[in-house]
Amino acid sequence: MADIHLAAPDTIRTGSVSGPVPEPLPAQPARARATTAASPAAPPPAEPPPVTPPPGGTSPGGTSPGGTSPATTAAAPSPGAAASAASSAVLLRVEGLGVSFAERGGIGRTRVLDGVELTVRPGEIVGIVGETGSGKTTLARAIAGLTPADRGQVELDGRDIARLRGRAQRRFRRGGAIQFVFQDPLRALDPELTLGESIGEGMAIAGTAGRARRAERVAGALAQVGLDPAVAERRPAQISGGQRQRASIARAIVAEPRLLLCDEPVSALDASNRNHILILLDELRRRFDLGIAVISHDLSSLAGIADRVVVLYRGRVVEDGPIADVFASPRHPYTALLIASAPDIHGRDRQAAAALRPAPDVDSQSVGPRPDARDRGGCVFAHRCPFATVDCDGAPPRVDAPGRSSGDWIAACHHLDTWRSHRAASAASTATATATATATATATATATARKETPL
Ligand SMILES: Nc1ncnc2c1ncn2[C@@H]1O[C@H](COP(=O)(O)OP(=O)(O)OP(=O)(O)O)[C@@H](O)[C@H]1O
Ligand code: SF4
Ligand SMILES: [Mg+2]
Repeated sequence: MADIHLAAPDTIRTGSVSGPVPEPLPAQPARARATTAASPAAPPPAEPPPVTPPPGGTSPGGTSPGGTSPATTAAAPSPGAAASAASSAVLLRVEGLGVSFAERGGIGRTRVLDGVELTVRPGEIVGIVGETGSGKTTLARAIAGLTPADRGQVELDGRDIARLRGRAQRRFRRGGAIQFVFQDPLRALDPELTLGESIGEGMAIAGTAGRARRAERVAGALAQVGLDPAVAERRPAQISGGQRQRASIARAIVAEPRLLLCDEPVSALDASNRNHILILLDELRRRFDLGIAVISHDLSSLAGIADRVVVLYRGRVVEDGPIADVFASPRHPYTALLIASAPDIHGRDRQAAAALRPAPDVDSQSVGPRPDARDRGGCVFAHRCPFATVDCDGAPPRVDAPGRSSGDWIAACHHLDTWRSHRAASAASTATATATATATATATATATARKETPL
């Protein structure tokens, strides 16, 4: 899979979606508040110290929801990994979301997101996966209101925030209910400011807390992410990369958000720091009942912490369901290909990537990639899908998994019930072709050898 580095699609430095003014939300009894007072200056530890495990929760280096640590989940995303701390209430509901960008020269528009549906519950971690350019970052930005949507709804706690404009939009953004965590923490932390100033910047600009209260909340946020509050006096260049990402998360949570949007939050970190950050996110969602959407190319990392996964392909959701189920037995051919391409995800029904690539020799009269289907409004994957038929020239239906409640596990495909049998046929056909080719080569070699052998 491509190793993706987040492009900087905007000029926003702050971790807040609202620009530099994340005001704290009103106190919410269900959520803990940062209360640790600033302590005397002390050098920060070389390694991130452990965060305090929440009651009944995980411990750093310990286990994640399904009893698998992010370090090891690659090998074993168990169904239990999806055991969710989430409530049944919906925090974020995205419906029919569409985003398009003007093409160069101003003639026409390119549709980047089309009819995207997605939900996040309080306390739930939803992974968003898909190859580069599939629209993951655009989706996060559209949810946050940073990229305007031209269709659909984005509801937070039942309120359509995609329609907010002017003062109402500014007020919502200042509330800091949605916060971003970027791949590069320096997008959230001004290198010229101390960490304390960066983390407290929103409160300072909004005037919502005096100096002492700000310092108290900054120290509390640092402690929540497992950093010594003394690092508040340091600048971003004076701490490690892992500590910087923790500090950027502290900047996000100091505003007491409802929803955290994390765009490749660990891809720039080494394995050790990656695990620390993943465990931290897992703890934060439990402790604060935060809804978290994590965009990642690292399926194994997601398997360790996410409850659900949304698979995007060319701006459409092709599959959405409990991550353990989806990774163990993907229903959509693209999801299967994605998982087959991830060497460290071992699904119950592990796919052979080769069998999922175009196989025009299988019943080629009726089954095989259909290059123009997407242009006719059909399946976005049809130009690559070895199982496409003429049906795929039409928009695929979103189909619930058998025996599941509505919306629990959907996949958008015309041939959910049959593509696996085609895959088996493809594999058999490939095996036969390989055997035939081998036999032919052997016969040729034998004949050549006979010719060359002196009698
Ligand atoms: N501001 C913009 N103007 C025009 N096109 C854009 C803009 N932002 C994104 N795009 C296009 O939208 C598509 C989706 O981009 P996006 O950054 O959302 O993909 P992504 O899934 O996050 O990819 P990656 O994994 O590489 O980060 C790409 O083709 C990209 O070129
Ligand atoms: S709808 Fe057709 S082209 Fe699309 S994934 Fe399903 S079988 Fe393949
Ligand atoms: Mg991106």
